[in-house]
Amino acid sequence: MRIGFIGTGTITAAVVTGMIRFGVSFERVALSPRNAKTAARLAALDARIEVCESNQRVLDTSDVVCLAVVPQIAQDVLSELTFDARHHVISFIAGKSLDQIRALVRRSARIVRAVPLPAVAAGKGSTAICPHDDIARTLFAPLGEAVEVDDEHQFDALSAATATMAAFFALLEEQASWLVAQGVPYASARSFLSGYHVGLAHEATSGTEPFSAMIGHASTPGGLNEQFNRELSERGTYAHYAEALDNIMRRVKGRG
Ligand SMILES: NC(=O)c1ccc[n+]([C@@H]2O[C@H](COP(=O)([O-])OP(=O)(O)OC[C@H]3O[C@@H](n4cnc5c(N)ncnc54)[C@H](OP(=O)(O)O)[C@@H]3O)[C@@H](O)[C@H]2O)c1
Repeated sequence: MRIGFIGTGTITAAVVTGMIRFGVSFERVALSPRNAKTAARLAALDARIEVCESNQRVLDTSDVVCLAVVPQIAQDVLSELTFDARHHVISFIAGKSLDQIRALVRRSARIVRAVPLPAVAAGKGSTAICPHDDIARTLFAPLGEAVEVDDEHQFDALSAATATMAAFFALLEEQASWLVAQGVPYASARSFLSGYHVGLAHEATSGTEPFSAMIGHASTPGGLNEQFNRELSERGTYAHYAEALDNIMRRVKGRG
């Protein structure tokens, strides 16, 4: 695989780092010249990674092309480029539909969307892919969970679900603050909660049963977990999630 990246920012750095760490098979990685510092750091990782002098050169020397610029400049950047029918284009660009990317690429190249998350660098990133695509799966499955869907609405929904990151950390901060109020030093609270949640995440990834079944296993009748979950449910804590995700979905689809 000769793979090129247009845009060498956070997400390209994470993907390329993950590719090297987790042994994704490739012949060559071509990086666009911006951001020069990140591109140079990535090029130092492996002799097969090269920083090209232009975005067009990335295209000319690649078969798989990942689009990794921010949405605001996508039109300007892509309109200057000449794609080829051989290109297999994987767009990371948030909020640009398959049809919009196809219009910008202006060729009958294969177009796929993917949302790799920064955790792909550590082999722990879930990546939504649309539509099903062997090349995108080969690239992202070794870097965590690759989840393919053919329906773009489902892909948008998976993208919307990635808006819950800050809220996840807010939940941890809330629990840490409570522990601190009980006299536990913040560092101990942080360390405890981080490890505790790794354990829970490990349980989630070790099996395939529905989360509702896991709630059941964790909720001994009359036990502490059962009480805590019930109290939050009764106060409508979880009900806010679907509503807030609906609002995010409107933005993901450009209607918010
Ligand atoms: N970050 C995430 O968690 C995440 C997750 C999934 C998808 N995405 C999507 O992935 C895309 C990239 O996100 P990101 O977080 O990696 O953004 P980013 O860190 O801002 O990276 C974008 C890069 O594009 C470069 N650039 C600017 N103008 C360019 C040009 N004319 N030609 C080539 N490169 C140019 C910038 O270089 P300079 O620094 O030199 O300006 C910057 O390094 C976005 O569309 C985003 O929606 C991001």
